[in-house]
Amino acid sequence: MNAYFANKVVLVTGASRGIGRAVALAFAGEGARLVLAARSADRLAQVENEVRDLGSEVLSVPTDVTSHDAVAALVDAATDRFGRIDVLVNNAGIGKVGGVEAAEFADDVRQTLRASLFGMIDVTQRALPVLRQQGSGTIVNMSSVMGRKAFSRFGSYAIVMHAVSAFSDSLRQEVAGGGIRVVAIHPALTATDLLKEAEEAEMPPPFRHMTPLSSEEVARAVVAAVRRGKRRVVLPRTANMLLLGEALSPRVGDLIATALTMRPVARVLGMSRGKTYHETILSQPSV
Ligand SMILES: NC(=O)c1ccc[n+]([C@@H]2O[C@H](COP(=O)([O-])OP(=O)(O)OC[C@H]3O[C@@H](n4cnc5c(N)ncnc54)[C@H](OP(=O)(O)O)[C@@H]3O)[C@@H](O)[C@H]2O)c1
Repeated sequence: MNAYFANKVVLVTGASRGIGRAVALAFAGEGARLVLAARSADRLAQVENEVRDLGSEVLSVPTDVTSHDAVAALVDAATDRFGRIDVLVNNAGIGKVGGVEAAEFADDVRQTLRASLFGMIDVTQRALPVLRQQGSGTIVNMSSVMGRKAFSRFGSYAIVMHAVSAFSDSLRQEVAGGGIRVVAIHPALTATDLLKEAEEAEMPPPFRHMTPLSSEEVARAVVAAVRRGKRRVVLPRTANMLLLGEALSPRVGDLIATALTMRPVARVLGMSRGKTYHETILSQPSV
């Protein structure tokens, strides 16, 4: 443990499972005090116990981030209990798989916007005055590799993740100089429940043999990014090749995405390292 996070107050949305739970446990392992938010009170209570077992003080506040009143109550509860917020991790979100021609596509975009973008905006707007008053703090926004390069059948998700990237970029520049940092995290496919409902055949071709990151890998990167004052983190690092290709030209980006459907290429880029997404999530307990 490093003293850097000792007694710092970290608020994590979407902390009931997956990446949010792992982020909460990682900060607890660093000695931080935690505020946990998500809708399911029972799962949140389990994570609260896990955090407490690591010796950290913790407050869990069942919250739907799409409710303005619930978000206000969350931030008020955090400041009433701890008096400050040092790190806000905007992680709560959902994801839908489906092509642009599907009848439900626009509705998928709307639902994902509500949970993953407008929830993030609301929590940020509510917490920012606290950080401004302190003159310090870090806001971590969970985006995705698809926040910089969309894949087929992930249009609704990629639209929203691009919006999260843009929101993070604007926010970072607006708060610069006030002691507040903003970091956007762009993980590739991660082994959580997010896409568990999607059949393997529904996944975009490059994803079918991809080995997912673990939530713990993402959580470690979040902790390191906050400590080092990073602006953007792409996971795994080799995914930057894809993003670099996309920045050069969409033709190059699409070529790299197509090349990733070949297992040897995916292996060289560190994207295929063993079990596929479905093999991984089917063999692990739901967390
Ligand atoms: N898994 C991936 O491949 C991947 C890759 C890149 C980025 N991400 C991003 O990482 C974040 C976490 O995803 P995950 O993979 O850990 O998914 P997950 O296991 O499904 O967890 C999502 C979390 O968000 C919470 N949540 C969803 N809607 C909410 C709402 N309206 N209000 C409050 N909490 C809400 C869920 O809790 P409740 O259901 O209890 O509310 C849960 O704690 C998401 O923003 C996702 O876009 C995921």
